[in-house]
Amino acid sequence: HLPPGVRRLEIRSLLAQLAPRLPDTHKGHCGRVLVVGGDHGMGGATIMASEAALRCGAGLVSAATRDVHVAALLARRPEVMAHAVRGGQDLASLVAGTDVLALGPGLGQSSWSEQLFQTACAQAACSGDAGAMVLDADALNLLVRGCGGVTPPRDNWVLTPHPGEAARLLETDTASVQADRYAAARALQSRYGGVVVLKGNGTLVCGAELLLLSDYGNPGMASGGMGDVLSGVIAGLLAQGLAPVDAAALGVCLHGAAADHAAAAGQRGLLAADLMAPMRELLG
Ligand code: APR
Ligand code: MG
Repeated sequence: HLPPGVRRLEIRSLLAQLAPRLPDTHKGHCGRVLVVGGDHGMGGATIMASEAALRCGAGLVSAATRDVHVAALLARRPEVMAHAVRGGQDLASLVAGTDVLALGPGLGQSSWSEQLFQTACAQAACSGDAGAMVLDADALNLLVRGCGGVTPPRDNWVLTPHPGEAARLLETDTASVQADRYAAARALQSRYGGVVVLKGNGTLVCGAELLLLSDYGNPGMASGGMGDVLSGVIAGLLAQGLAPVDAAALGVCLHGAAADHAAAAGQRGLLAADLMAPMRELLG
């Protein structure tokens, strides 16, 4: 019973879009992701987004975060190149050396957050197609606040708001977003450009010419960190060369389907980190 113009996502056909690993594949073919976030009190968000990008097959993953979070990040995931950044200047060279940015996990809205947001957006704008980026959480709130003079629309970003963030982006309230999620997704995409992922039960993926619905996922996902994992997943898929709409569509399906596998052991108590192993199995 889908409204006209809406298509239901199916994970199998989307998985086929990923390039196979050939015998001589090396990490340089699989893309570089930089996760930017982790203000005070939110270091875990950066860890989860970084780990998710690696678990989805990104070749190299770096994280730019507060100095206090670097040791914990390395202890949990030594494969991530963790950098302490004090502000925009420290971030600029890291952004220059990456293919895809995941901007927002635990980013916060402090002056540190604003500097990182501004630097990341300014540089990604210069690099055109190569500068694909995922904007989530407080990156969306900073965008609403007009931070850094970033002017939508842009083509090369994937915005991943939950209904509350979507309401702020549309200058309305959450109830109005939820009352017609299809209309909200379309309004977000026409205002902000790129690809919009409207999260929640029945996540929508909206591009310029298409609107896709995911049936994957379950209420066990209502726990902190789930959105951070999704940011990392989409960034990891972008890094492997998928177009923004395909990375968003496959990312949403992988994330939800992994949560459905993990919820076989129960929805209550499901953790964001529990998605990593089933995601890998689904990727094959
Ligand atoms: N059914 C299906 N999917 C669900 C459900 C549900 N009942 N509840 C949550 N999810 C999925 C969403 O679709 C989304 O992919 O889990 C994920 C939750 O993402 P977020 O709402 O961003 O949650 P979280 O990771 O905790 O966000 C961390 O960032 O966005 C800010 O305000 C947020 O401070 C919080 C932080
Ligand atoms: Mg979130």
